[in-house]
Amino acid sequence: MANKSALITGITGQDGAYLAKLLIDKGYNVFGLHARRSTNTLWRLQHLGVESTVQLVEGDLMDLSSLIRAMEKSQACEVYNLGAQSFVGTSWDQPVLTAQVTGVGALNVLEAVRIVNAKARFYQASTSEMFGLIQEEKQSEETPFYPRSPYGIAKLYAHWMTINYRESHGMHASSGILFNHESPLRGIEFVTRKVTDAVARIKQGKQHELRLGNIDSKRDWGFAGDYVEAMWLMLQQDLADDFVVATGQTTTVRDMCRIAFEHVGLDHDKFVVIDPKFYRPAEVDVLLGNPAKAINKLGWRATTDLTTLITMMVDADMKRVSQEV
Ligand code: NAP
Ligand code: GDD
Repeated sequence: MANKSALITGITGQDGAYLAKLLIDKGYNVFGLHARRSTNTLWRLQHLGVESTVQLVEGDLMDLSSLIRAMEKSQACEVYNLGAQSFVGTSWDQPVLTAQVTGVGALNVLEAVRIVNAKARFYQASTSEMFGLIQEEKQSEETPFYPRSPYGIAKLYAHWMTINYRESHGMHASSGILFNHESPLRGIEFVTRKVTDAVARIKQGKQHELRLGNIDSKRDWGFAGDYVEAMWLMLQQDLADDFVVATGQTTTVRDMCRIAFEHVGLDHDKFVVIDPKFYRPAEVDVLLGNPAKAINKLGWRATTDLTTLITMMVDADMKRVSQEV
């Protein structure tokens, strides 16, 4: 039997790279939507050694015709929509772009799937940001949403569109409501990577302080490598559904910093400077997921605790910074 084909939007991002590697290891032909950029965006695929194995298709989430072409070219039976303007902070500066890429972009992918092959299975990268001002202490699939950022609102639109295509077109369309997940391939703008990169620079004498915003907020942080496994498992189910994917533990940004600095023998209190520039117009104070449904129905479980994750990221940044010329 011929290998299955999968199409990933956002293949150059953190999750796209880990998912591409996972699917290639499972024998899939992996196609990735690749938006043309003037800079090299393939470094994560290169890092995981899959750059020459994935087949890149030019396209953009805002261009439906390019998505239809990508569906036709890939003949994908599984489509993972990971592409997005995914940085919450930027979504206040570029709310319209965020709505178009992160919200309507998902609708464009759903339309391309419906038009070219409505039997293909679809995964939407939903997010714990949709819980925003949390309505329950532990957030599950049943918890009401209250998004607090233009990003969270765009994602909520995409989330409900996914449900709508499942209910009105009978498509196998699932949403993973993923809580924060990180790795050495995390973008530098997100707080964990900003911290682990700074720790490496401070330890090596290349930086003297770390400027942060609200370090009292709490997040449920897991390892991206674990979370892409959950995406794949969702598309292997007989019925499409929505799943919370989380560790079930929450930690302040402050304690995450402490873990990172302590790993190289430094005291975070001596280096962290609070800078109001990094405060958000509306904050999500705390996120804590209840992954019981994913554990019971998918057999999925987070394998990496925060200390292991952060020390892995600090070690990777120590190496990366030491190799800089
Ligand atoms: P990421 O590293 O920021 O990657 C985003 C990807 O989207 C990149 O490949 C980017 O391409 C692509 N993209 C941006 N604008 C595009 C456009 N107009 N057309 C096509 N592609 C475009 O994000 P991530 O951390 O891997 O997250 C993957 C998905 O999960 C995102 O949808 C994110 O919102 C969602 N999510 C993430 C988390 C998390 O904690 N990581 C949690 C919940 C949900 P370029 O490289 O060319 O810019
Ligand atoms: N980025 C950043 N930079 N965040 C800071 C800083 C800083 O200097 N200082 C404090 N923080 C706080 C933010 O205010 C927020 O409360 C927390 O650190 C985490 O910020 P991010 O790492 O930027 O992640 P996020 O939770 O806003 O969003 C991420 O997770 C979502 C899932 O809940 C992103 O990956 C989203 O795409 C994802 O949907």
